[in-house]
Amino acid sequence: MLLSQLTQQRVLPVLVLESTAQADWLAGCFVDAGLIQLEVTLRTPRALDIIAHLCRYFPELSIGAGTVFSADQMVQAADAGAGFVISPGATDALLDAAQDCPIPFIPGVMTPSEAMRAREYGFGLQKFFPAEAAGGIALLKAMGAPLQDIQFCPTGGITLNNMMDYLALPNVPVVGGTWLVTPRALVGNDRQDVVLKLEQLRQLLAPIG
Ligand code: 3PG
Repeated sequence: MLLSQLTQQRVLPVLVLESTAQADWLAGCFVDAGLIQLEVTLRTPRALDIIAHLCRYFPELSIGAGTVFSADQMVQAADAGAGFVISPGATDALLDAAQDCPIPFIPGVMTPSEAMRAREYGFGLQKFFPAEAAGGIALLKAMGAPLQDIQFCPTGGITLNNMMDYLALPNVPVVGGTWLVTPRALVGNDRQDVVLKLEQLRQLLAPIG
């Protein structure tokens, strides 16, 4: 279900938010653009409150909690109303906790062994991080031949300029990243900048539906 929703959207915006006020105007932009799966990272002090706020006031959105490091955070994210959980890695504690987690988990991997291990735990969709630094498209292409039943969501260095090359790979149904909402746009409440990027994104994705 989650995979099909993300596959349909093709891009998972990653948001690093400090306040519910930021969340409100951004959520409006994403709802208007029809992007309803969003990742809110647990990198800021109020992230869990912000997830709860978004889930309450924008029920049409599905909010994933990102940068999840511990089993406790997984539970807190689910309690806050998150629809899924994502991590840059896949520790034993996370892989074990995910078996009892009421919402889907997307583990982070970078190597074939990490991907195979996460697959053994049942995770067919994995975050490939940090994508560009790890070898990007060439590495994903090479992993595609032996790891045929694993799908990747690359993040880390994805931009409007390279995302279509990633999405052209058969093992990449969706890409993620922070580039749609720059720190500068956030600090300046620059709605226009975000709307412009979302329009550029729409135009890029139009040919592949
Ligand atoms: C993440 O949390 O997935 C990454 O920080 C995203 O990387 P980016 O900032 O290069 O898009």
